[in-house]
Amino acid sequence: MFFTYSANVTHLFQTKSVFFIKICKIHLFFSFAIPIQRTFRIFEPLFKYQFMKKITIAIDGYSSCGKSTMAKDLAREIGYIYIDSGAMYRAVTLYCLENNLFTKDGIDTARLEEAMPEINISFQLDPETQRPITCLNGRPVESLIRSMEVSSHVSPVAALGFVREALVKQQQEMGKAKGIVMDGRDIGTVVFPEAELKIFVTASAEIRAQRRYDELKTKGQEASYEEILNNVKERDFIDQNRAVSPLRQAEDAILLDNSHLTIEEQKQWLAEQYQRVVNG
Ligand code: DC
Repeated sequence: MFFTYSANVTHLFQTKSVFFIKICKIHLFFSFAIPIQRTFRIFEPLFKYQFMKKITIAIDGYSSCGKSTMAKDLAREIGYIYIDSGAMYRAVTLYCLENNLFTKDGIDTARLEEAMPEINISFQLDPETQRPITCLNGRPVESLIRSMEVSSHVSPVAALGFVREALVKQQQEMGKAKGIVMDGRDIGTVVFPEAELKIFVTASAEIRAQRRYDELKTKGQEASYEEILNNVKERDFIDQNRAVSPLRQAEDAILLDNSHLTIEEQKQWLAEQYQRVVNG
């Protein structure tokens, strides 16, 4: 496109009328070509990957280890659906906080179990960023579910058997047609034990706390590194030791320690794993 433009420029000065026509042509070309090119760029993954075998990709691992970023980027690149299963547990926690289901004795499990059928969690695509926004009963709650308040209440909610049962059922429904990247703690072990590609991500607690701290600061939210580090360690302990679906690496999952990897390096590594499975 750039060369077409340069070649036309050399003829521009031949006559005034030719000059005017050429300018109009260039203007028309760019006013149509650029939006069309942009549209094609958005749909490129659909054309490029649509004839490839659709698989299920399960990405599990510790909290704040960058699973979501790599899962989201891969899904966008290959035109797959992306589901952040942690966001679903966070949305249920937000519901509990907003409806006073946390009492001084813990969670009011009887009321929560009764309310579960009314808790509707869905995802919408942000038209600007092309990233999913979590909705609770139709209301966008993406930034609310990332607050420290939700982070510090989510583990006991995610440990409840009836909550897990309901959310796992929804997650399996979402992945029925394959072509999905889902991240969480039990995706490769419980939700999609048959997934063709399973990754288990880890990084040191200190590095994960620092990343979370930087993320909250960038969003302008108040944060204390010590508080975040304690929260990360506490969540690791609860996730690994809960009775229902504890966090563990599936036997056939590939381990990735990303403590010293850049986002770009992780992205590249994950793309290679995907290519190996679909082409292998
Ligand atoms: O990935 P995250 O930090 O947003 O997850 C929030 C909480 O939900 C965390 O305590 C672990 C829990 N979780 C889970 O138990 N099972 C999943 N599949 C995903 C998240």
